[in-house]
Amino acid sequence: MRKRIVAGNWKMNKTLKEGIELAKEIELQVEKQKDKSIGVIIGIPFIHLPEVSKIVNHKIISIAAQNCSSEPKGAFTGEVSAEMIKSTGTEYVIIGHSERRSYFNEDNKTLNKKVKLALENNLNPIFCIGELLDERKHGKQFDVVNKQLNEGLFDLADEEFSKIIIAYEPVWAIGTGETATPQQAQEMHEYIRKLVSDNYNAETADNTTILYGGSCKPSNAQELFANPDVDGGLIGGASLKADDFIEIINSF
Ligand code: PGA
Repeated sequence: MRKRIVAGNWKMNKTLKEGIELAKEIELQVEKQKDKSIGVIIGIPFIHLPEVSKIVNHKIISIAAQNCSSEPKGAFTGEVSAEMIKSTGTEYVIIGHSERRSYFNEDNKTLNKKVKLALENNLNPIFCIGELLDERKHGKQFDVVNKQLNEGLFDLADEEFSKIIIAYEPVWAIGTGETATPQQAQEMHEYIRKLVSDNYNAETADNTTILYGGSCKPSNAQELFANPDVDGGLIGGASLKADDFIEIINSF
């Protein structure tokens, strides 16, 4: 059965000291949880990775980077490779977040290279997809998501694909306070699972964790997670406070 996961995405927030404190607080509270079956991941800035990875118990929380280079190594000033991320003890990497796609012009082809480098270095990608508001208004959300998956992921072999977590994040819901309705989330997650089934097989589709992201918070997580195809969340703003993040984990 697929794993239920709550992943935080701190984005460009928290100094190293603040990050260490938050990670410790989250770990402490997660350790007290009764339900140990829920995976908890924190997506943290690059510079936090080695320190935080050292101080947390990876059996309690896992660590994700928020990006990796599309090149393996060499003269790419300012870039951080998948191999370097892996060397810090990090287990996951967020790839294709809408902020990377829009502000840093990352297209599906580039993201496909990142996914492959992550996999080669034993990092599990959390691959983000989702439509813009205008695309939804024109009824194009399914085509957009289909294209993102086709170009970003669907050339992976079965074994590689089994390492992928998909995060559906409608761009109009990210950081806006506007959330997809539980119906909208379920409809899209069901569609994504069907695409995985068509491109791989029913068993792989059934085993794929599909997260919802976009203004997910303590007050709406429960109704979102109650949907059969919503396996958890990728949480931005509400992952910056331990209490809110824990309340979201408790929403299953
Ligand atoms: P948000 O961000 O929860 O602040 O909307 C989600 C994300 O960008 O992953």
